[in-house]
Amino acid sequence: LKLGVLISGRGSNLQALIQACNTPGFPAEIAVVISNRPNAPGLNFAAEAGLPVVTIDHKDFETRPAFEDELHASLQAHGVQLVCLAGFMRLLGNDFVNRWRDRMINIHPSLLPAYKGLHTHERALEDGVRITGCTVHFVRPEMDDGPIIMQAAVPVLPQDTPPLLAARVLEAEHRIYPAAVRMVAEGKIRVSAGRVQLAAPVT
Ligand code: GRF
Repeated sequence: LKLGVLISGRGSNLQALIQACNTPGFPAEIAVVISNRPNAPGLNFAAEAGLPVVTIDHKDFETRPAFEDELHASLQAHGVQLVCLAGFMRLLGNDFVNRWRDRMINIHPSLLPAYKGLHTHERALEDGVRITGCTVHFVRPEMDDGPIIMQAAVPVLPQDTPPLLAARVLEAEHRIYPAAVRMVAEGKIRVSAGRVQLAAPVT
């Protein structure tokens, strides 16, 4: 399965996907890495791996649809079959999301539907929850919403600070993002009635 990975920043989840795709037998490959920020540090991981890199700076476009048309065209041009949002910090409009419906996934650093949006770890610590985690889900027009593919639970420890907790959750992100991509790529799941279901076994 050909992946298009969209990033805006650090790119540690991109790096996890690169490593997974370099594992013999992994059923996906990265066809293109696209950043909306020209200086995203994560672009270095892509360059080191020799992957095609495209920068589409949203500031170069007058409207969101114009930016998203360019994004779409670039994904198409690279033969992308599954879009992986990996710290991509632009909200995507309905038209774009619907064009990639059930073919675009995101990773979010909380156990959705809890803690949508930003500052998830600060809010979890503020609430005193004892377990948090991360979620890979299909993307829907509402932010951090959509059928859940995979989650990992991560304990909140007594001395945690937002950075400590973020680092622990990030390790789990790096495990489940490739695992979720594998499930999609192997055709193990389908979306039905708004939920991810196991695909009927092939007999
Ligand atoms: C991750 O915590 C991810 O869950 C969130 O943004 C962060 C991106 O980190 N959506 P990185 O750029 O993959 O290192």
